[in-house]
Amino acid sequence: MAKSEDYVFLVSKFLLLICVASFIYYKKYHRRSRLDDEEKKRPTTFVCRNPQQAKSILNGSYFEEPSLSNALKARAGPNTRLVYAFGIENAFTTTDTKYHRQFVSLAGTRINLSNVRWESLSKDIGRLLHGNIERQRISNGTVLLSRLLQITVLRAVLPILFPNSDVPDLPEEEQDDVAYFIADKINSLWIESKTTQAPNPKDLHSLKEACQKLLPGIAVDSPRDSPLNLILPAFETLWRIVFRCFIEVQFRSNDDFESNKNLLQEYLNRPTSEIFTKADARDISVSHIVNEALRLYPPTKRVYRHIQTESRVNPDVVAVDIESIHRDAQIWGTDAATFRPSRWGSREMNGNMMSAFFPFGMKPLVCPARKVFGPRIIGIFVASLSQIFNDSGDLETVGEMDFRRQGLLENARDSYMSIAVRIKERKELGTCS
Ligand SMILES: *[C@@H]1O[C@H](CO)[C@@H](O)[C@H](O)[C@H]1NC(C)=O
Ligand SMILES: *[C@@H]1O[C@H](CO)[C@@H](O)[C@H](O)[C@H]1NC(C)=O
Ligand SMILES: *[C@@H]1O[C@H](CO)[C@@H](O)[C@H](O)[C@H]1NC(C)=O
Ligand SMILES: *[C@@H]1O[C@H](CO)[C@@H](O)[C@H](O)[C@H]1NC(C)=O
Repeated sequence: MAKSEDYVFLVSKFLLLICVASFIYYKKYHRRSRLDDEEKKRPTTFVCRNPQQAKSILNGSYFEEPSLSNALKARAGPNTRLVYAFGIENAFTTTDTKYHRQFVSLAGTRINLSNVRWESLSKDIGRLLHGNIERQRISNGTVLLSRLLQITVLRAVLPILFPNSDVPDLPEEEQDDVAYFIADKINSLWIESKTTQAPNPKDLHSLKEACQKLLPGIAVDSPRDSPLNLILPAFETLWRIVFRCFIEVQFRSNDDFESNKNLLQEYLNRPTSEIFTKADARDISVSHIVNEALRLYPPTKRVYRHIQTESRVNPDVVAVDIESIHRDAQIWGTDAATFRPSRWGSREMNGNMMSAFFPFGMKPLVCPARKVFGPRIIGIFVASLSQIFNDSGDLETVGEMDFRRQGLLENARDSYMSIAVRIKERKELGTCS
């Protein structure tokens, strides 16, 4: 009897164990599959820092069916926020291949400038900078560099991007103010677009109204008409790269300061592609200076693409980390984090470096300003600023001083916004005819 009782006891214990085990298993399995479902919906962002992989993502060969249409979809997805924020439809947001071609071709035509036009642009930029500094000096005595650049970059690119616009019938001061308003609104809407899909419609309305003031006669209403289609990519990146390149050249290039300045001065006097790429005795050209700034401070630090995999509900996002590839010591050497334009000279530059440099993206979605317009207008702005600083007597910087330290400059959207200069001693400014 005792034996059979033992037996029953054992069996019931065994059954209980199985029950508990299956209960635990059931709970665990259920939880896992619920998690899996959530996991499938939540987009994951992969960061890509490998140059080869980055290239294959940007040139489309990474995707199962490389085509312009798929490349546009992969890019438009992460840029939807710009559609909500700015009411635009441009090359960055469209999935329509025909419209994309038209847009890129129009942009390419507008920024294809003759030598004569480059010369007048260079004079216009000088005049805008001089005028703005004078006006700010009169009103306050100090010139905020970020403000100076935002206003003058915007005002310089508008006539290039919109040759059909009438000339605004507003005093210079007012044009400066409107330009600054536009810059400020673009910045705040940009930041807002990262957190909300429904920005205040009043903001966009006032932004468009301001654009209309500087571009009389230009349609602004439909997404394809919006002048912001061209203004956003041209202005937003340009003023920030000019800012960093100028800080490097003006405040941090130590022994190379005089030689760099002479190069820039020569280019300003004759802003042709020959002078832009002409190297001096050190094997440095203005083009090298600009490339070095674009390498360390790519205005688009990360490029986002959607990747759709079948197992997942929402597409994943891959972030190509251009900034970190541009600063990778395995490619650029131990001084990768130093601003040193001479690395672009023929003695040092190699294929590895060339193929790990893509500040303007890559075919098929490469920026039309990559080859000529972008680098050369950066050069003109930096040269023009450098000349004004030379002409204007002793300058003292006011505000943040961190940028004088060794090491990399910050590359955030809102860095160095309070750097200002005060002109101590009044000297005659260059004539601004
Ligand atoms: C794209 O980039 C990858 C990686 O560098 C390369 O192997 C491939 O040939 C490129 N494809 C095109 C179409 O350029
Ligand atoms: C730029 O314009 C010139 C002259 O108008 C033309 O010959 C050239 O093909 C154009 N270049 C591009 C890239 O559109
Ligand atoms: C002038 O501008 C600077 C920089 O924005 C600011 O810090 C300063 O308070 C202003 N001074 C006056 C008198 O408005
Ligand atoms: C800078 O100014 C000095 C004198 O103020 C002048 O001799 C020199 O040529 C100028 N340099 C440049 C690059 O403009």
